[in-house]
Amino acid sequence: MTVEQLQKSIRELKKENDVCILAHSYQTREICEIADIVGDSFKLSVEAQKVKNSKIVMCGVHFMAETAKLLSPEKTVVIASDEAGCPMAEQFTPEEVLKFKAEHPSYSVVSYINTTAALKCVTDVCVTSSSAVEIVGKIENNDILFIPDKNLGAFVQKAYPEKNIVCWNGGCPVHGKMTAADVKAIKAKFPEAKFLVHPECPPEVCENADYIGSTAGIIDYARKLDAEQFIIGTEISITAQLSYEMPSKRFVNLSKHLICTDMKATTLMDVYNAVCGKGGLEITFDADTAAKARHCIDEMIRLGG
Ligand code: 13P
Ligand code: SF4
Repeated sequence: MTVEQLQKSIRELKKENDVCILAHSYQTREICEIADIVGDSFKLSVEAQKVKNSKIVMCGVHFMAETAKLLSPEKTVVIASDEAGCPMAEQFTPEEVLKFKAEHPSYSVVSYINTTAALKCVTDVCVTSSSAVEIVGKIENNDILFIPDKNLGAFVQKAYPEKNIVCWNGGCPVHGKMTAADVKAIKAKFPEAKFLVHPECPPEVCENADYIGSTAGIIDYARKLDAEQFIIGTEISITAQLSYEMPSKRFVNLSKHLICTDMKATTLMDVYNAVCGKGGLEITFDADTAAKARHCIDEMIRLGG
């Protein structure tokens, strides 16, 4: 079967089986083309609540499907590839957070949405990369434990020097590997290029940027800015997507190593199987986890507007 034939079958099957396909922007182009909604983590969370279909197929990583299930508990939610998990989501345990809370009762726990449902159960407010600065600004408490991404935590701390943001040593294994030397090398090749970067990159990388933001923020900024060349400091799918959309602008990767193998684990065939009900992994929660883990996501959506 060709890619086009498979895409046609998926489009027909999703109607027959009342399926809505949500895809993160890091998915491959052939998957984004057959998705009903493509976006960053915040958009996918908000949209998951509005879906009218009885089944959601998530093309992304595990925590994204968990978030969709928490927000739409009455729907069947399936992650297209059960191999796709964000390693950052599991870097800390609920027990470590509970221990910190017991020792530091005045602190609020803010978790990046890239966390397991178990961690969300012990979190006060969740954030995404597009909403972290805004939401932390709305939290009255100045004492904050921010997990798991220390780079995103440092980015938020910069916006609020008056806050005391404690970060643990976690982060994205893909963005976290970027260095100031990578920036220097690509800027030497493209000295006129604007540099757009995801806040999961280390501060030494972000400090050289023209724009720091989520995947959706980067896409939006590149659309609006009247420049010819852009260096993209996030997963390489975004560079490809931007190049297809704006062929008159030149988009280059900060590094060829910016590949998330988990985001790339999902194939079009996985999506086909998930839509047919023959593949993927259904997400389920017990009632207690469902109620506790949802609270911090509801807070995120409330505070993030
Ligand atoms: P966004 O919230 O920007 O979509 O980021 C998700 C992610 O996993 C980035 O690595
Ligand atoms: Fe997780 Fe990093 Fe992959 Fe995003 S890019 S899903 S944070 S491992």
